[in-house]
Amino acid sequence: MNPIASTIDVAAVRAGFPSIDDRRVFLDNPGGTQVHGSVYEAVEGYYRDMNSNLGGPFATSQATDAMLEEARAAAAGFLGAASGAEIVFGANMTTLTMHASRILTRGLGPGDEILVTGLDHDANVAPWMLAAVDRGVTVRQAGIDAESCLVDVDDFASKLTGRTRVAAFGWASNGAGTVNDVARLAALCRETGAISYVDAVHYAPHGTIDVGAIGCDFLVCSAYKFFGPHVGVLYGRAELLAQHRPYKVRPAPDEAPHSWETGTINMEGIAGTAAAIRYLTGLGMEQVTVYERELSARLLEGLEGIAGVIVYGTRDLDRRCPTYAFNVAGRHPAEVSAALGERDIFVWDGNYYALELMQRLGIEDSGGAVRVGAVHYNTPAEIDAFLEGVAALAG
Ligand SMILES: Cc1ncc(COP(=O)(O)O)c(C=O)c1O
Repeated sequence: MNPIASTIDVAAVRAGFPSIDDRRVFLDNPGGTQVHGSVYEAVEGYYRDMNSNLGGPFATSQATDAMLEEARAAAAGFLGAASGAEIVFGANMTTLTMHASRILTRGLGPGDEILVTGLDHDANVAPWMLAAVDRGVTVRQAGIDAESCLVDVDDFASKLTGRTRVAAFGWASNGAGTVNDVARLAALCRETGAISYVDAVHYAPHGTIDVGAIGCDFLVCSAYKFFGPHVGVLYGRAELLAQHRPYKVRPAPDEAPHSWETGTINMEGIAGTAAAIRYLTGLGMEQVTVYERELSARLLEGLEGIAGVIVYGTRDLDRRCPTYAFNVAGRHPAEVSAALGERDIFVWDGNYYALELMQRLGIEDSGGAVRVGAVHYNTPAEIDAFLEGVAALAG
């Protein structure tokens, strides 16, 4: 196999994660990553030095105000937004999307349409369906190509009409690890005037995000998937945040992004989120992508080399994160993940809420698939240990 051609020093990287040791193999990353040490420090520092609500005429509140603005600016830099004014923090991606879907469908009714896809995590499908039921709006669904496990772009284009008000789609599939051409999907939305709402939860730990380059209107991600705490981050184009009327309590500020945030937000988590972003920015997302590509190639080659293993989705590494869904012939996915768990190799099984993908692949009723997902702190040796474990089961 090729040597890893990247400037990432994985031993140094691992030393920065207090929970990582040489005993446990964390390949459960698509469900949530380990947390970088600087995040622990930022959370503790927030409790020690700030820990106040916003807008008070005293030092700890002023420090909290400053921290929040810095965190917004850091998140804006991470996502390629114009400024921190385009960043909304929330509990997690699902809660933000439940909220945004209600706001963005306010005033819609029969005759209006929303487009979702059959590839997305249900957090970017069900909120839109629920909002649509409340408003009498029609939901259409773009299909996927079962072979590649990518959104069928032609089907997506054909279901976008002048009546489509919002199109919700994912950047990378948390089910199959495949990466859609989001710039193309967003461009199609611009042609018809639909608001584009991109789920970047799975993509965020793996590659550079630039909302300007993609040309999307909204994009959401979750810091616990990129080495930070449980905090959701939403980018919204400034004019759209200002134009749509959020559901809010009366005394809360009327200006976005504050007006889109409900109640007292998770300040300590936001301080930790900014630290996770600083960590990744310091490392360089391009380097992360280069390193992970080698892990991805090793995973794919290894899995395909084991007789009886079925891997789902495209083999084109340009259209992939190092996340793979697979099955071992004759074994229930839960049996495979449990056997790997006994070796201290952590992976998930099931549908991971990528419900319709599993249905489309015809495996939802047989337990879905096993999911292995690497990030930049994983080593080639860990991938090999995982492959050995799978081979033992397949054999
Ligand atoms: C692609 C994708 N979208 C959305 C979510 C939901 O994110 P959250 O847990 O932040 O609500 C997940 C979580 O696994 C995910 O993988």
